[in-house]
Parts: sequence; structure tokens; C-alpha cells
Amino acid sequence: MNGDIHQIYAVRPCFSHDIQKVMEINEATLPENYPLFFYEQILERYPDSFLLAYSREKPQMILGYIMWRIERGSSSFGLDYVKKAHLVSLAVLPKFRRMGIASSLLQNSMKVVQKYKISEYVLEVRVSNTGAIRLYEDVHGFEKIRIISRYYRDGEDAFYMSYKYDPTSQYTHKSMGMSDEEIFRHYLRINQPHLCFRCPNCHHVLIKGLNYSYSGSIHPNDPSTLTCAYCNSEILKFSISQGKYDIKL
Ligand SMILES: CC(C)(COP(=O)(O)OP(=O)(O)OC[C@H]1O[C@@H](n2cnc3c(N)ncnc32)[C@H](O)[C@@H]1OP(=O)(O)O)[C@@H](O)C(=O)NCCC(=O)NCCS
Repeated sequence: MNGDIHQIYAVRPCFSHDIQKVMEINEATLPENYPLFFYEQILERYPDSFLLAYSREKPQMILGYIMWRIERGSSSFGLDYVKKAHLVSLAVLPKFRRMGIASSLLQNSMKVVQKYKISEYVLEVRVSNTGAIRLYEDVHGFEKIRIISRYYRDGEDAFYMSYKYDPTSQYTHKSMGMSDEEIFRHYLRINQPHLCFRCPNCHHVLIKGLNYSYSGSIHPNDPSTLTCAYCNSEILKFSISQGKYDIKL
């Protein structure tokens, strides 16, 4: 579990004396926070699913964490009632991002929770959290299964994403997930077609989050430009008239 010795971090299980630091990272990085007993309960019930990344140079320094719970429910990939690993929380301190820490936490923990004989991994992620979506989808093979409307307390939608564990194959079972077209149709159906765009350059789907904070970043010097969060190309211009967005492609 310790990983490549050239990396500045390594991964290890969480112990009860680490929870305070985990809570600090959670509170600094995510709006979804939990009381102490919640972490203690996860650690007590699923000790192997709760992992930390720490600094090799200063081993007492925790850089990120991941925790899962195990549950039963309907499969995302068929009609079966299955055992799933449900991602409870994953976060990395801002200074240590884009070094592969989350990826390593995911990879290690997904391997470890197989001991619970799960057949799927599932998670919810904010539709505007393009970085995390990219991590789950492009790097780890999760699929968008459905949109859960207003899943978060502030009203933002979540993607429910799944990965089917198949001990005989290292590849995901594509096809049962939500296609980009279905995502477009969902926003059309709820009468909000302006919330969803496809980047003409890299073809990723970009979905606007709550309060007009775009999933793509708005160029600081030109507020009428929307830049794709995946490939950084300028994908559209828009203007606000009478409180409404006029999309100008
Ligand atoms: C999402 C998060 C956990 C990613 O952690 P991380 O350690 O930076 O991720 P990794 O370095 O392992 O990223 C692996 C790959 O995922 C993708 N990725 C991760 N963050 C990304 C971002 N902000 N933008 C675009 N792609 C991103 C990239 O493909 C990246 O590979 P690359 O750096 O070679 O391009 C981190 O940004 C975070 O803690 N965010 C706040 C909490 C959060 O949103 N948690 C997820 C809740 S569901």
C-alpha cells in the first residue's frame, strides 16, 4: 500500500487518532461535513475502507483521505439486488492536488474493499465538479448512471456514478450508464437547456452548477467567455440580458 518510493506521499489505513486531522481536511475542502461519531462509525464498521495519504517527509502530515461504506441495493447495471461500496468522502489538501494522490487513494481502497465481496462501486458527485468527474470517469472508469436532482443541501444536482467490479476483467462494463444525450435531454425536460453544453473541441459535457457558477471557468478578463474545464479551449460566449442568459455560440 505504501506505493512508489519516489512519490512525496504514501497511503496507509486510518486509525482513530487520525480522525481529527481527517475532519480538518474535510472541513477545509468540502461543504459536506460530518460529526466525529460518523467517522468513528465508518472506521469501526469498515476499517479497511478508510485510507489516508501522508507526507513521506513528515509522516504525521495527512494530505488526503478516502472512506467507503458497504450497502445493499439495486444494481446500476441490471435488475439484481447487489452489495455495493458507496464512496462516503474523498478529499486532498489543495496544495497537494494533481500529484495523483486521489487516484492512488481510489485505486488502493477499491482493491481493499473487494474483501467485502461487493459487485459495484457507487458515488455521488456535484454536476459542476468537473475535476472529480474527470477523475472518476476518465481515469477510473466510472459511468454516469443518473442525475439526482437537488441532491445537495444548496440545491445542486448530483451525478450518481457506478463502476461494475468484474473479477475476470480489468475493464468496466460500459453501456448501462447515462449517455451524454440523456444528460442533455434531462436538462431539456426540466426546461433548463442552457445548463448543459458540449465542448466542440474535446466533446466533454459541461453542466452549469448552481448560482450561475459554470462548470467551466469564466475567463477573469472577459466575463462573457466560457472556457472548457477539460481542454481549456474557449467554447462559447454569452451575455446576460434581463437576468437571463443568451447563449451565443
Ligand atoms: C477531486 C480531488 C479529490 C482530486 O484530487 P487530486 O489528488 O488532485 O487528483 P489526482 O491528482 O489523483 O488526479 C488524477 C487525475 O484526475 C483528473 N483530475 C483531478 N483533478 C482535476 C481537476 N481539478 N481538473 C481536471 N482534471 C482533474 C486528471 O485527469 C488527473 O490527472 P492529471 O493531473 O494527470 O491530469 C481534489 O481536487 C479535491 O480534494 N477536491 C475537493 C473535494 C472534492 O471535490 N472531492 C470529491 C467529492 S465527490
